[in-house]
Amino acid sequence: MLKKIVIGNWKMNPVSLKDADKLFSSAAKSISKVRKTEIVICPPFIYLERLRKLSKKINLGAQDTFWGDVGAFTGEVSAEMLYNLGVKYTIVGHSERRALGEENIDINKKLKALLSARITPILCVGETSRDESHEYFNVVRTQIKECLSGINKNLISKIIIAYEPVWAISSTPNRRDATALDSREMSVFIRKVLSDIATPAIAKDTRVIYGGSVSERDAEEFLRYGGVDGVLSGRASLTAEKFVKIIKIAESI
Ligand code: PGA
Repeated sequence: MLKKIVIGNWKMNPVSLKDADKLFSSAAKSISKVRKTEIVICPPFIYLERLRKLSKKINLGAQDTFWGDVGAFTGEVSAEMLYNLGVKYTIVGHSERRALGEENIDINKKLKALLSARITPILCVGETSRDESHEYFNVVRTQIKECLSGINKNLISKIIIAYEPVWAISSTPNRRDATALDSREMSVFIRKVLSDIATPAIAKDTRVIYGGSVSERDAEEFLRYGGVDGVLSGRASLTAEKFVKIIKIAESI
């Protein structure tokens, strides 16, 4: 079995370093004796350096990166810069970035940059809506194929694939809950796609996780029955007690 992972995506929160410090420290303080679960928090870039100094129990992740190494790219942050700061994971292809115009071709370049900087990429995929003819499976297949295009097969299992159906994410208007069965079906499908791109063994070794309004109330359901190796939580990760509860659930399974 692959090691479980619980990731908190803080998105563009909180508004001050002081609040970031407080949230991170109170989560770190309540985490004890975690053996089976990797814990990651992805705060905004500007808090990374400070938070790194606060606790070793929580790994740091970024929410995005740029594909260039260094140079004239105003406003961007490279994978190597993140690595030099102690960042171990980075989310790419989040639906909120795709909504701002990011495409699979950009995500592909970012994945390559992260892998060469020895950072574990967390690749988000997921359909915006579901349809009766199951077209959404093809949407996810295309995302995976285009994002992984040209990446050495042997590096694929270093990538964590986060299935995040956009219709279940907390910021989506009129959102609805996804079920563990939705997650299970898609995780099987994602592994099938990975096995076609690489090999069945590589697909088996690649972590697939679920994200979309995961809370302390349903994390157990997804972790036990959702066919996934972890969860990516947004809103719930902004409350230390809820995030820690999710970690304890993961640890107990
Ligand atoms: P959510 O966010 O848990 O608030 O739905 C998850 C995500 O968008 O990564």
